[in-house]
Amino acid sequence: MSVEVQPRAVSPHKLAHVVLNTRDNFTAMMDWYQTVLNARRIGEYAVGPGNMGLLTYDEEHHRIAIVSGPHYQPAGEGPRVGLEHIAFTYSDAADLLHTYARLKQQDAIEPTISVNHGPTTSLYYRDPEGNRVELLVDNLGMEEAIQFAHDVFDVNAIGTLYDPQAAYDALIAGADPATLSVCPDVSEVRPPDPAFLAILATAG
Ligand SMILES: [Fe+2]
Repeated sequence: MSVEVQPRAVSPHKLAHVVLNTRDNFTAMMDWYQTVLNARRIGEYAVGPGNMGLLTYDEEHHRIAIVSGPHYQPAGEGPRVGLEHIAFTYSDAADLLHTYARLKQQDAIEPTISVNHGPTTSLYYRDPEGNRVELLVDNLGMEEAIQFAHDVFDVNAIGTLYDPQAAYDALIAGADPATLSVCPDVSEVRPPDPAFLAILATAG
């Protein structure tokens, strides 16, 4: 008599990497992700008619791969279906703000918009192919963040505009980093400001 064994339901151990296709911007994409993530180039390899480049910045053998080929079609204008953005979390507000300043000052890479969502403070960038990349710091622990969403996201699921330059200026003037990226109290949350929504709509 055979024993019926139910397979276990198992979640992944971790999110491993992201692979992005390009046709014309292989070097620009490699350079951009290396710069933005302060990453290490693992290597570049011929794959079919194009190339594959690997980058990492931590214990993973590759976090980002850029794959090029003449058969990839550029994305059209306007919002796309599919992937919205890739997000990277920094240890604290100081790390995020130093990254903001480094990218702006050394490489003229600036966010298209910066938002305090409540649970996170998030800076949104565009890579050379137009993919959106979010650099963020958590303002709450996981359970607090979920509770905050339950409490206020039906009133305001977006947050408020954030000024990273003002925050960086305050940081280098001696402000405590913990004061520069703070989730508002639930009682303070109001519907999104129409001017902020207008900026969001055109932020690209
Ligand atoms: Fe996000």
